[in-house]
Amino acid sequence: MTDVVTVEREGEIAWVVVNNPPVNATSTAVRAGLEAAVRQAQDAKLAVLRCEGPTFIAGGDMSEFDAPAAEPHLPDVVQLIEDSATPFLALLHGNVLGGGFEIAMGCAWRIAAPGTRFGLPEVNVGLIPGAGGTQRLPRLIGMEPAIDLACNGALLKAEQLLELGGIDAIAGGDLIAAARAFAAELPARPVAVSQRPAVGIDPALIEGRRAEIAKRAKGATAPLDNLEALQWAALPFAQGQPRERARHLALRRSSQSRALRHAFFAERKIARPDAITGAAPREIAHVAVVGGGLMGAGIATALLNAGLPVTLLERDDEAAEAARARVRELLESGLKRGKITEAQLGERMGAFAAETDYAKAGAADLAIEAVFEDVAVKREVFARLSAAMRPDAILATNTSYLDPREIFAGLANQDRCLGLHFFSPAHVMKLLEIVKTPDTSAEVLATGFALGRRLRKISVLSGICDGFIGNRMLAAYRRAADYLLADGALPYQVDSAMRAFGVPMGPYEMQDLTGLQIAWANRKRQADSRPAQERYVTIADQLCEMGRLGQRAGKGWYAYEEGSRTPVRDPEVEALIEGYSAAQGIARRHFAEDEIASRLLAVLANEGARIVAEGIAEDDAAVDMVQVHGYGFPRWRGGPMHYAAAVGWEETAATMRRVAEESPGSWIIGPLAERERPSAED
Ligand code: NAI
Repeated sequence: MTDVVTVEREGEIAWVVVNNPPVNATSTAVRAGLEAAVRQAQDAKLAVLRCEGPTFIAGGDMSEFDAPAAEPHLPDVVQLIEDSATPFLALLHGNVLGGGFEIAMGCAWRIAAPGTRFGLPEVNVGLIPGAGGTQRLPRLIGMEPAIDLACNGALLKAEQLLELGGIDAIAGGDLIAAARAFAAELPARPVAVSQRPAVGIDPALIEGRRAEIAKRAKGATAPLDNLEALQWAALPFAQGQPRERARHLALRRSSQSRALRHAFFAERKIARPDAITGAAPREIAHVAVVGGGLMGAGIATALLNAGLPVTLLERDDEAAEAARARVRELLESGLKRGKITEAQLGERMGAFAAETDYAKAGAADLAIEAVFEDVAVKREVFARLSAAMRPDAILATNTSYLDPREIFAGLANQDRCLGLHFFSPAHVMKLLEIVKTPDTSAEVLATGFALGRRLRKISVLSGICDGFIGNRMLAAYRRAADYLLADGALPYQVDSAMRAFGVPMGPYEMQDLTGLQIAWANRKRQADSRPAQERYVTIADQLCEMGRLGQRAGKGWYAYEEGSRTPVRDPEVEALIEGYSAAQGIARRHFAEDEIASRLLAVLANEGARIVAEGIAEDDAAVDMVQVHGYGFPRWRGGPMHYAAAVGWEETAATMRRVAEESPGSWIIGPLAERERPSAED
């Protein structure tokens, strides 16, 4: 008996208690403990399985998933519980997820605290359940809700599961007392869930759901694996369950599941960067936002949605009124989509003020500046803010490219200054780059991370460089794509190659969607500091000069029919590209899709490796999560660094060398080849 599971007798009840913080995951020790507990409970009338801490068993121990599965295996443990001569009652609270739900389904009865959440979230990490989840759940609650849980990762509240017949009762108050009362009047033991009749399959239901699931999956394969496994519930359990187990074990070794598990752990890692270790965040109760344009209005909306009062400062009354209208419009779009109620809209507008007098924001704990991308304008804003606010109030800039050190130069108490770089639209996009200057204190950074959590963002710590982590990588990616155009590819080929890799949009479609102006302005800004030997492809500049600024202008890298957002190849653009190559004396050549993608991915990994080596990002996890949450990199690919490691760093380095050799003087090769090849890759 291991101490993560204990068995205590109380009259005819055997209390089986799991205590494996933080979430009682079904580690090897827990599985072994449960196996022993079933034996120890044999002479009791009822075994009650419950968990210590804030939750029932909330899943498997994913840190064990890279190694071969160790005994005892979870499906065998669930079977032992189901077959036990002493029937089991599961007492459920918190999250009953994955292996936890599978164990609960092996019990004869299930009683839950109100609000307990149930799910089979294996799909989120590229897996199917491995201990009978896809076989028992449809037998327990029917195929349709089982599809939602297993294929879409949906969660059910105890109240919903009770209605579906998935639990026997909800017990408010003392769960343990409820179990005792249940034991006192023990009903007849029901047929075990696995022994209920096989589930009939309605082909129309499955086909209908298949299309919808495939669309949502965006290239991830596990949702359809789950749909397939659920249909094995039409077989006798003794046939369906081993199939499920075999597929589960195979998927653990799949590249998608490895990538998704990497993303899962990376998210947890980046939330606690070394730079904030031991630092406690400050309380933020009121925020000032300066500038109510595209970004400022989005940031204000995000803050209001998180329950924070906002005072927005604008240049003049007219601009303040426009900012207020923008914020209202963003909140109203939330109302239309059913995200907030009319009353909440009223509350949020009530917590919002658009002003021109900085004194009105004097009591704010934090100011976020989102005015024009101009150092002089930003400096003046911060001078006024520091005069109006407490000397320790936190000052943040949302600049995309400017150096925060220049923006904050001359201010008192620079340990309170940082970058909070939101992505557009700021009330929607998950990514937040938290930019540290050499002076930013750990406490102020920790406050940035706490704010990010409150806004439900994925926060990534970044040091200072041109474009921080995300836009610096984007610039390298676009430059590499432009070299491909000059050397022989066309925009649609580059876009199609990257879509085939799994991004929702290729680089040129994406530029058309967001507009070509910002990058154009950047290239002009960088012209003086660009290394003289660096290859500079002028095609994008030529398009901008022609007014081809993207979808909003009706044309960009592609043509758009009136009122349509569908990119159409444009002979004018393609002739311009071919003309550019000819003028440069370049003999255009064919690039296969695979080659296009592998080059662009090597460039991303190279830039990421440099960013890590320079200490701009703490680790690969930070780079990967910036790409996944800010730039549409497919989560099931893990991020460019994980992908490069899976391909092999040596191969990535070789591709990068080829890219660099073709454009001499244009690329700095980072530390790629010297990275270890991870041993656990398939
Ligand atoms: P914008 O032009 O839409 O909005 C700027 C706003 O600032 C305008 O409403 C203007 O009236 C106001 N403003 C200008 N000077 C002011 C002053 N002295 N005091 C008060 N308000 C003033 O610009 P956008 O796109 O919102 O960008 C703002 C900042 O956010 C820039 O630094 C930009 O680089 C950064 N950013 C932009 C992103 C984007 O996708 N547009 C993404 C991330 C950051």
